[in-house]
Amino acid sequence: MSREIRITPSILNADLNDLDTEISRIADVSDLIHLDVMDNIFVPNFTFDFQSAEAIISACPIGIDAHLMVANVDQIAPQYAEVGCESVTIHAEATTDIAATLRAIRKAGARSGLAVKPNTAIDSYSQFSDLVDMFLIMTVEPGFGGQKFMATMMDKVRQTRAIIGDRPIWLQVDGGISLETIEIAVDAGADTFVAGSAVFKAQDPAAMVTSLRELAKGVAN
Ligand code: DX5
Ligand code: ZN
Repeated sequence: MSREIRITPSILNADLNDLDTEISRIADVSDLIHLDVMDNIFVPNFTFDFQSAEAIISACPIGIDAHLMVANVDQIAPQYAEVGCESVTIHAEATTDIAATLRAIRKAGARSGLAVKPNTAIDSYSQFSDLVDMFLIMTVEPGFGGQKFMATMMDKVRQTRAIIGDRPIWLQVDGGISLETIEIAVDAGADTFVAGSAVFKAQDPAAMVTSLRELAKGVAN
């Protein structure tokens, strides 16, 4: 199995009062910075409004992977692409027109991502594969960092890998990814890894990103 591996650290549990420093510690070794946008409606937590997110996006020295955990995401999603995100992921549960929104994200210049919560099956979304640049399988209930990795999601990851076939679609997992769990997720077929607390609670966040990548590559190659 030879697969390109991407590590996309989440800044949810970083020191948000000193975000520039936090991001600069890991920028050189990360593929993208994962930005969790929560509205306290779709999930029981709030992170950024669009204006604050935009400030982070424009100041970030590497690309942003926006994970939108907001209700009624259809209108706002393309705006995240317009302000420069490299990737914009919507939740299948939060959109009323998946195809139109995925198309609008691409049209605005970003990669389009489609996420599902743990209780949402992936089968019915395979029909959107041609409009998707990344599937995101949540390995925790979205809302908070630091939760336990749900190994029971690995069947869904395997199913998604089968749906992807030989299309160049990234397969991301998000939640509880650490040195203990990343190999399980690679083995199931994931190639793109969000890691929040594992990275920012480490003494040396950059070294942790590198260790996660090395472990993942060991399984993927
Ligand atoms: C949870 C977020 C995650 C979170 C991951 O809803 O989508 O991106 O920051 O944090 P860890 O890696 O600590 O589970
Ligand atoms: Zn996330």
